[in-house]
Amino acid sequence: MTRSFSSRPVRPRRSVLYLPANNSRALDKLPGLSCDSVVFDLEDSITPGAKDQAREALRTFFSDGRAASLPAGMEKVIRINALSSPWGAEDLLAARGCKPDAILIPKVDAPEDILAVDDALDQTDAPAGLRLWAMIETPRGVMNAGQIARMARSDGARLDCFITGTNDLLKETGVAALPGRPWLSPWLMQIVLAARAYGLDVLDGVYNDFKDEDGLTRECADGQAMGFDGKTLIHPAQIAAANRAFGIAPVELAQARAIAEAFALPDNQDRGVISLGGRMVERLHLEMAERLIEKAKRIEARQGGDQDT
Ligand code: COA
Ligand code: MG
Repeated sequence: MTRSFSSRPVRPRRSVLYLPANNSRALDKLPGLSCDSVVFDLEDSITPGAKDQAREALRTFFSDGRAASLPAGMEKVIRINALSSPWGAEDLLAARGCKPDAILIPKVDAPEDILAVDDALDQTDAPAGLRLWAMIETPRGVMNAGQIARMARSDGARLDCFITGTNDLLKETGVAALPGRPWLSPWLMQIVLAARAYGLDVLDGVYNDFKDEDGLTRECADGQAMGFDGKTLIHPAQIAAANRAFGIAPVELAQARAIAEAFALPDNQDRGVISLGGRMVERLHLEMAERLIEKAKRIEARQGGDQDT
């Protein structure tokens, strides 16, 4: 089985909101939000003393119908504590029982960290549709990103997506948190490249200053230019900026449609390269155009209005 950039499933992950699992007001607010995905957090945003209560709150949210009534298309992900921590095994069992779309594993250093979760899920006969996401947020995780991503190529692998954990990476390395992320960017690009090499989605880290809209907008634009699929977020007020930055501009969609239409003309059907509006267009551009058109369709289906505040 091989997965490459063009064979990855198309799924909008423009805005991925963390939500501490024990925050009942935030859970109440969720149905009105237009993020593409939500990560219910049992890890860093929950203190050790509150872990059991957060896990129970999550179990209840998923069993009493509230999770099922979230907007169609809002992807549900649960971030567990590492299996090596005192809470990891219990979190994994609870997450498995909740039947989310994916489980997010924190602080992944090496492929074995994912294999351990994968094996544990297989032992409970978890369906193949239950996917795994990995946080790359430690120095070893960044150094091993290629090997970790390579797991996505093994048969039956559940790995779908990388998230860059920029706060942990800054903490672990001592790198300065500067606007424009000059010293962090080489590592972020390494993570993007590893993800792309093996057909994974990859999401940018969070922007902590949730009242600074201009700063967030700039960082979203940087992340989009760096090749990320979307941004992880900490506050509902950040959703609209991420949806804009990682969405599809009308002019981009029009260009993609023009490419698809040009290759569909009878004269061009057997041609590898054509000329369109004075520019060379190859079949690889057709593949990119088709993905973009598909993504635009899914975004349109997902659109719930930007009422996030
Ligand atoms: N998801 C959903 N709703 C959220 C939310 C989130 N992540 N963060 C805040 N809200 C809700 C609040 O509950 C509040 O709802 P209300 O109007 O019904 O009271 C509303 O949005 C406004 O929140 P606000 O008062 O501006 O923020 P706050 O002071 O309550 O919380 C944070 C600020 C940063 C503590 C909070 O946003 C948060 O916990 N974010 C996630 C942190 C996290 O998960 N970190 C780990 C990954 S890095
Ligand atoms: Mg972290």
